[in-house]
Order: sequence, then structure tokens, then C-alpha cells
Amino acid sequence: MDSISSRILEVTPSLTLAVTNQTKALIAKGEEVYGLAGGEPEVDTPQHIKDAAIAALQAGKTKYTPANGIPELRDALAAKFIADNNVSYDAKQICVSAGAKMACYNAILAVVEEGDEVIIPTPYWVSYPEMVRLAGGKPVLVETKESNGWKMTAEQFEAAMTPATKMVILNTPSNPTGAVYTEQELRDIGEVALSEDIIILSDEIYEKLVYGDNKHVSIASLSQELYDLTITVNGFSKAYSMTGWRLGYTAAPKPLAEAIDKIASHTVSNATTFAQYGAVAALQGDQTFISDLRDEYDVKRQFMFQRLKAIHNIRVVEPKGAFYFFVYTGQLGLKSTNLTDKLLSRYKVAAVPGIAFGYDDGIRMSYCTTLDVLNEGLTRFEQFCREH
Ligand SMILES: Cc1ncc(COP(=O)(O)O)c(C=O)c1O
Repeated sequence: MDSISSRILEVTPSLTLAVTNQTKALIAKGEEVYGLAGGEPEVDTPQHIKDAAIAALQAGKTKYTPANGIPELRDALAAKFIADNNVSYDAKQICVSAGAKMACYNAILAVVEEGDEVIIPTPYWVSYPEMVRLAGGKPVLVETKESNGWKMTAEQFEAAMTPATKMVILNTPSNPTGAVYTEQELRDIGEVALSEDIIILSDEIYEKLVYGDNKHVSIASLSQELYDLTITVNGFSKAYSMTGWRLGYTAAPKPLAEAIDKIASHTVSNATTFAQYGAVAALQGDQTFISDLRDEYDVKRQFMFQRLKAIHNIRVVEPKGAFYFFVYTGQLGLKSTNLTDKLLSRYKVAAVPGIAFGYDDGIRMSYCTTLDVLNEGLTRFEQFCREH
């Protein structure tokens, strides 16, 4: 259709949301579906967070706030950055947005101009390349290797750089692979970024879900020079199980933060006012919800790892964070969408095709569900693999 902008014609709809909708449609028809496609904790938001939002609503916190968020929340986030990430941001450098998705988009829009290249390691979170295209930029995909834990090396990064490179996107812990970059890996990547002043978008939304001896490191904490190049993105969706609240944020050096505030002020304005009060309670209240969630997911992760390792015609790398496995399915000889379609229609197991993440020889399976669903879903997946 002529009236649709070429910018939008180039963009594909989110495949992860499509799988969710397909699954919901099957469930609505009365089918039992084993959902391993989810991207959100299955548990509810903690009660004290809901109570704070309800109290704010009752107290009339129903009007506009500053576009970058209420000062109480930005102050609480500044304190969080010092305590958790060893990075110092002034409240003015933080912009609260309608989800981390919006935060990523604001960051990209603030930096990327027509024709600029943005380096994105593959498998990537679905929305990064599309956001870059929406901003007029060109995604440059760097295929990571299973043998390197699905992580981009500094050498790969350097080889992908051209004079048009403006930004690199890092996501640690990663959706869909669960990869967690070590401090040394981030230092090496950071050095390459510094050599050409490449802006780093560091999406840290899964920072609280890191297992075993692995540690989350914020690249902005590693040096003043890296701080000056980095836009950190985070949010409330995963750690506090608040996906529907739509609350995320960026933290950036002053000039970039001002640019992001301008975008917010002319697009969404502020994130929902009373939800922001819930977020203050999330940051300042009891944090045991997070450690309980992490412990629970660690059990599920180990259970799933053992089950997947036992299937002979697939391969998996142990994920170190987030709540996903990226399963290599190349030996099954199916395109990832054929595979997940069959798995869903015949075996009633929902998973996300790897092509959604730019990698067609794999699928993403998540463990943010009950152990019973996980167990049955994996039994059926095992049967599927046996029969193919
Ligand atoms: C890597 C990554 N970044 C950002 C987001 C967006 O989070 P939000 O729901 O807060 O918009 C997600 C959600 O799945 C994600 O996996």
C-alpha cells in the first residue's frame, strides 16, 4: 500500500509476540499447551508494590509527571545504580520510560542517524534490528559462536566496524542465549569501542537473574571513558515481575540524557504516574522476592539443562543468566519456524523460532514457568526430537 512509509514496510512484526498470541488462541480453544515460549516470570508482582501503586492512585497521583519520571523514582534509581552497579548517575541523567523496550528505542533514536551502522551480536533480542531500522540506521549483525558461549569477541567487533559505525548493542545477561559477559570481555569490547568513540547501548534488564559464580558487570562502571560512551538500559519487568506495568529506564551521560528526555517529552511523555510510585516501592522495599525468584529459576535451569543435554540430536550451552535456553537444532533439518509450528500444533509445546533472533538453526525455550509444565513440555520435546 502506497500510504505506508518505507520505514515501516522494512520492519517485521515481533515474532515472539506472535508465538504468544498463537499459544493464547490455542488455549482459548480449550487445548492444553505447554508454554516454553514465555518472556516473563510466571509469578505475580509482589503485593507491597501493588499496594504502593493503589495508594498512589487513591491519593490522586493521576496527573502528568515530568517526562523523565517522578524525582522520587529517579533518586531511588540513582541510589540503585551506586549500590548494585557501582555507577554514579545524577537523577537528571535518568529517564523513566514505558518499559525497557521504549528505553532501548529512545536510546537508539537519540544516537542513530540515517545510514549509521549499529553492531548487534546474533542471536539478538528481537527488537534491536527493527528499532535501528525505524531510526533510519543499518543493523550490522555479528554472528556469535556456540563454542564461545554465544558471545561476541572484541576481535569480531573490531572486524565488523566501518567508518559508519555509530553504536554497538550489548545485552548481558542475554535474551535469548543466557550468555553473561565477564568483566574482562567487557573491558576488551570497551577498548575497541573507545578506539572509535562508538556509543554502547548496554541492555541490562536481566541483571538480577545471574546464576552460580557468574556476576553481572555494568560496562559503564569500568572506566570514566566507558561511562561517557554508554547508555545503560534497565527496567522493572523481569526482576520484579512487572511486565504489564511498562516501566523501564535509561541512564546516560548528560548530553545523551538530555537528548533522550527530549524524545520522551514529545512521544510518550511520562510512564504511567501511579505505576511509578509502585516502582519506588519495588526499589526501596524488601528485595527477597528477587533472590527467591533467582533461586527458583536456578533449580529450573539445572533441571532443564540435564533434560536437554540428554537429547542426542540437539545441542545446548549452559546459560549463565536470564531464563532462556537457546537450543541448537541444526541437526533436525528443519527451518526454525517449521520446527516451532510443528512442535506447537502436534506436540502442544510452545517455543520461539531462532529466526526471530536472527539464527535459524535454533529455538528459544524458556523456564519461566512451573516445574510441571517444564517437565511435560520437555518430555514432549524429547519425543519430537526422537521422531525427527
Ligand atoms: C533483552 C530485553 N530487553 C528489553 C526488553 C523489554 O522489556 P520491557 O518489557 O520492560 O519493555 C526485553 C523483554 O523481553 C528483553 O528481553
